[in-house]
Parts: sequence; C-alpha cells; structure tokens
Amino acid sequence: MGKLPADARKAAGQRVNALKMAVEKAFEERLAAMAKAARDADLSATPFDLTLPGRAPARGHLHPTSLVREEMLGIFRDLGFVVASGPQVELEENNFGKLGFPPDHPAMDMHDTFWVKPLPHMPDAKVLLRTHTSNVQVREMLSQKPPMAVVSIGPCYRTDEDMTHTPMFHQMEGFYVDKNVSLANLKGVLTELVVRLFGDRKVRFRPSYFPFVEPGCEVDMGCPFCEGVGCRACKGTGFVEILGAGMIHPVVFEACGLDPEVWTGFAFGTGVERPAMIKYGIPDLRLMFENDMRFLAQF
Ligand code: PHE
Repeated sequence: MGKLPADARKAAGQRVNALKMAVEKAFEERLAAMAKAARDADLSATPFDLTLPGRAPARGHLHPTSLVREEMLGIFRDLGFVVASGPQVELEENNFGKLGFPPDHPAMDMHDTFWVKPLPHMPDAKVLLRTHTSNVQVREMLSQKPPMAVVSIGPCYRTDEDMTHTPMFHQMEGFYVDKNVSLANLKGVLTELVVRLFGDRKVRFRPSYFPFVEPGCEVDMGCPFCEGVGCRACKGTGFVEILGAGMIHPVVFEACGLDPEVWTGFAFGTGVERPAMIKYGIPDLRLMFENDMRFLAQF
C-alpha cells in the first residue's frame, strides 16, 4: 500500500477489504456446513438403546474346593462337631510319632514327605510340611479334655504328581472322643456325610491299615459315574474310595495323655478335591489349581 500513489490507495484498500470479508464469509459458511453435516449424521444414525443394561463388573465367587469345604464343614456343624485348624509346618512328632508310626515304618513311604529346616530352638526335632490333617487330632487331644467332636480342613503336602495327585491338596480330618464310642457311631456319621454330600447311595466299609486306628477301614461309596454298574472310574468294581477311617488306637490316646481304658473314639480323613471332582464332574485334578477363568467361571 505504501508504494502506491496516494490517490490510488483508497480504492486499493477497499478492494483488499472486500476480498478479506469474502474469504472470511466463505470460511464461516464452510464451518457451519460441516457442523450441520455432522449433526445431521448424528441425528439420522440408528439410535442406541439407552435402556440396555450396562456391563456389570466381573464378580468373584468361591473356588470349587472352597464350595465343597464349606459344604462338608456345614454337615459336621449340623452333627455337633466344632471346627479347628492346625499348622501346615509341623513337627514330625505330631505328624507321625504321636500317631503311632514307628520310626522308619514303611507306612510313611506313602507320604513321601517334604522336610523343612529344624527350628533354631529345637535343633533335634524334625520339621516337615504336614502330610495329612491328622496332626490336628494330636494337637486337639493334647489341649482339651474329652468329650470332643472336631473337624478340620486344610492343605497337606506329599511329593506326588500325576492326573490324580498334586504336591499340595486339601484334607478333612474328623474325630470324636467320648466314653463308649463304637464302630456303629463311625458308620452312622460317615454314612450321613456321604448321603448329604452325594445323595442316597451305597456305602461300603472295607478293612484297611493306618497306624493310628484299630480297627481301620477304607470307606467306599457306590460309583457316581455308573451308579454301581462298573466303569473305568471305579475300575469295574461299582465303588469309589472316598475316606480312611477307624477307631482311634490306644497308643494315640496314650501319646496324647488320655487314658485308653476310659476314652474311646473314631477318626476319619478324606480329601476335599476328590469329592469336589466327583460332585461337579471335573475330569482332571490339575484344573483345580491352574486358575483358568474358563474353568472357574463355570461354578
Ligand atoms: N490320615 C490318613 C491319610 O492321610 C487318613 C485317615 C485319617 C485315616 C483318620 C484314618 C483315620 O491317609
């Protein structure tokens, strides 16, 4: 503008102004058109359903092992048992010794044990991960006076691993100590457990050996997979084994400071995973420990 002759400046200024206004107007119009197109697209789109429920946050629930644990404990609470617990790291004396396992007895081989460093203040006492929940029997008998009816559920450890064994598994222990307890009491209580857990089915008591009971038995129930006809799960026998049990051995009472001439009792032990597998039709024990949500979400 400065280089134009003075008399041309006004007209040139007016033309530049007019051009600027035209560009600005076109720009505004284009912006408005784009906004309108966006708004029209919104209004004509398929409407979304405001009434659809939102996505609920995932909710946790109990693991199948815990479900069966609660069910088992509930059955025994109904029968008048109290619930106790014991340590998973235990003295050899409470896991084996006081239960009447003689040192080096082959019955301990079945437990293939995990040993732990001795405690600093008891360097001579052997320490292990408990191989069964029977340590709770010992601890409760040492700390209370009968009559007593106690159940306990918790992890146990053995160096086993295949389709039906894992190094950590859960067991339930139960025992009843009083005057005049008989095998009939044992049979009544364990039959009640099976029937409440699995429905009305045959229960069979078969002689067996555990160092801490006499007589000892294994308890079988009518195979839930073939209803007793005979199949692969029951190896054609029509029965599956579910419990170890027996009348508490006098050496156990003596080791725990109870007079075996006065007191009598029965005890039993069972897995927790296996009843859960039977109850829910779970084919492989390892599924119970893998935490795969596709499996767990089914409960
Ligand atoms: N503790 C035994 C086991 O682990 C089971 C059992 C408990 C047997 C109580 C008899 C009495 O195999």
